[in-house]
Amino acid sequence: MAAKKIAIIGGASAYTPDIILGLIRHSRELAGSEIALMDIDQEHLEVIAALSRRLAEHAGADLRISHTTDRRRAVDQADFLLPQYRVGGLQGRFLDESIPLKYGVVGQETMGPGGLSFAMRSIPVALELAKDVQELAPNTWWLNYANPTSMVTQALTWSTDLKVIGLCDAPVGMVYEIARIFRYPLEGVTFDYKGINHCGWITAMYRDGRNVLPRLHRLVRWVPAGLIPDERAGHVLRLFQRHGVVPNYYLAYHYFRQEMFQHARYDAERGGTRSQVIMKGLPDLYEHYRQVANAAEPRLTKHRGHASHADLAVEVIVAMVTGRRQRFIVNVPNQGALEDFAPDQVVEVPAWVDGSGYERIPMGRLPEFGADLIRRVKHSEDLISRASIEGDRDLALEAFRAHPLTPSRDVAEKILDELLAAHRDHLPQFRRPTQAGQTT
Ligand code: G6P
Ligand code: MN
Repeated sequence: MAAKKIAIIGGASAYTPDIILGLIRHSRELAGSEIALMDIDQEHLEVIAALSRRLAEHAGADLRISHTTDRRRAVDQADFLLPQYRVGGLQGRFLDESIPLKYGVVGQETMGPGGLSFAMRSIPVALELAKDVQELAPNTWWLNYANPTSMVTQALTWSTDLKVIGLCDAPVGMVYEIARIFRYPLEGVTFDYKGINHCGWITAMYRDGRNVLPRLHRLVRWVPAGLIPDERAGHVLRLFQRHGVVPNYYLAYHYFRQEMFQHARYDAERGGTRSQVIMKGLPDLYEHYRQVANAAEPRLTKHRGHASHADLAVEVIVAMVTGRRQRFIVNVPNQGALEDFAPDQVVEVPAWVDGSGYERIPMGRLPEFGADLIRRVKHSEDLISRASIEGDRDLALEAFRAHPLTPSRDVAEKILDELLAAHRDHLPQFRRPTQAGQTT
């Protein structure tokens, strides 16, 4: 197997060490490969690079870790590109979480107005990056973690011919949680998933070719969901009990809308939106990374996120490098995988991945009871992807109005205007030239 170059854009992220550990676990298949860490945050980049080198060296892994603040250098001849940048950082996420709340709408990183807002910042950077990729690594596999991954992937596949797969660990996350709570073994099972990112359902679960999801359903059907201590798992369980298929937990923002809003507002009032909680914890986490980088026995005991997040990208890379065919849930242009969408619309479905790329597994139609919601969210997201590509404020307004979580046209416009103003510095596409060459 030839050595590869894997470039991580946003390499200083606290998520990176787990990706490195995953790559180290597969270092035999990836022998001789280079992992290029790129970030604009030089200080954290140094920490993550030192840690990564220490971990690789200690494991005796034949991997070379480079780091740079020069995006083009990282991209140059990369075989795999892992963008996980966050435009505007967690401070930007905080604005997306808190501004909609003022208008009675939940604020969230990828869902609702917050997600649309994040798309407006992420997409222009993706398109800039794509120019470098087109020039320096046109054959790269772009494994996109930059959120909101559905909209970023949509914008990229509409605007470029690059090979892009949007990744997310959420679709199966909650099935594992439910299975763990009820001690149901999931080894060796594969899943059907129908929907779009953060908005879809696990509709079947196979063991030895048999759908065993109904069996899990019978097992949990009459359990009082209130007994489940984890709130997210409780929501998922309720919906599973009702419909017999397992929701992506982000659907709670729709199906338990009022409750999710109340919780978000309660957290925000006490200074603890999700991004604030994360920001509070990050200094400790980087301090841990610094210590481990200098330890004789480097061992990570603190992590950002769940291991499945890193494993997914690593396993996709390994399947492509080794040619060992594996099934993953991916975000790719539909091309008939779901009958509810047009060929060019990015959907989230299972696919076989191997040395030649991916092959979608046809999923038929969305579940009847949930189809309308998914279609409406997708419509709104497509509008914002187009608005972000074209810098069209009217289209952005249409997107905000079309989203099922915005209560009225008026409120949609107020939220949009406030978000546009708050994120002004990261929204070059919406800046219009005025007289005297100034921009607004
Ligand atoms: C999951 C989702 C990601 C999301 C993350 C948020 O992994 O799939 O899309 O970014 O959760 O986690 P956080 O810890 O940042 O709230
Ligand atoms: Mn996700």
